[in-house]
Amino acid sequence: MKKILIVNGSKRMKGNSYALENRIAEQLKGKADVTLFEIGKKDVRACLACDACKRQHTPNCIQNDDFTSLIPEIDSCDAMLILAPVHWDQFPAQLKAFLDRTYSFMDFTQPDFSMAGRKDKKLAGYFFAGFGPVNVYTQMVETNLKSFATAGFRDYKAHVAGDANVPESIMEKAADEIVEWLLN
Ligand SMILES: Cc1cc2nc3c(=O)[nH]c(=O)nc-3n(C[C@H](O)[C@H](O)[C@H](O)COP(=O)(O)O)c2cc1C
Repeated sequence: MKKILIVNGSKRMKGNSYALENRIAEQLKGKADVTLFEIGKKDVRACLACDACKRQHTPNCIQNDDFTSLIPEIDSCDAMLILAPVHWDQFPAQLKAFLDRTYSFMDFTQPDFSMAGRKDKKLAGYFFAGFGPVNVYTQMVETNLKSFATAGFRDYKAHVAGDANVPESIMEKAADEIVEWLLN
């Protein structure tokens, strides 16, 4: 079974990201080994930029928080799915901290600057915005997803839904498409 890590970047427990997470987690039952990482309930601190991680050649961090505990899971999964809102035209703050912390996978001694154990992982990002512009937000999400290449996610796909009250039918279609892409 494929190992899939779902990262939920929202604080709104009854919001869109949670609704899609629940739907997708339900669909993946029995089809994948799923780990849920709900950032709003976790301690994910900012990167210290201390470069302590550069003294080793396997992903590591000297901070003792939930991100550090998740590093082996990030490194060994087959695919990661990020579900989150757009906040002020950007990644929400805790999710940006999560992205920054993947600096712990960066290795300047490697030609591809990565010490990830696996570099063939898939990454899907599904974001929700109150209004838009959706095309600009899609570019923003793609730019951020690209940075996860250092952690071994080289095949990525971004989608932004530009309606805060996303209708059930769209949620269902999104869940179907994401599940199919993650499993194949
Ligand atoms: C702090 C904050 C900033 C926001 N900034 C934007 C924004 O720049 N553009 C936008 O379209 N919606 C913005 N929104 C609205 C959210 O993106 C929208 O409500 C989204 O559907 C929330 O997703 P969630 O329910 O998964 O948390 C913002 C909401 C908050 C709380």
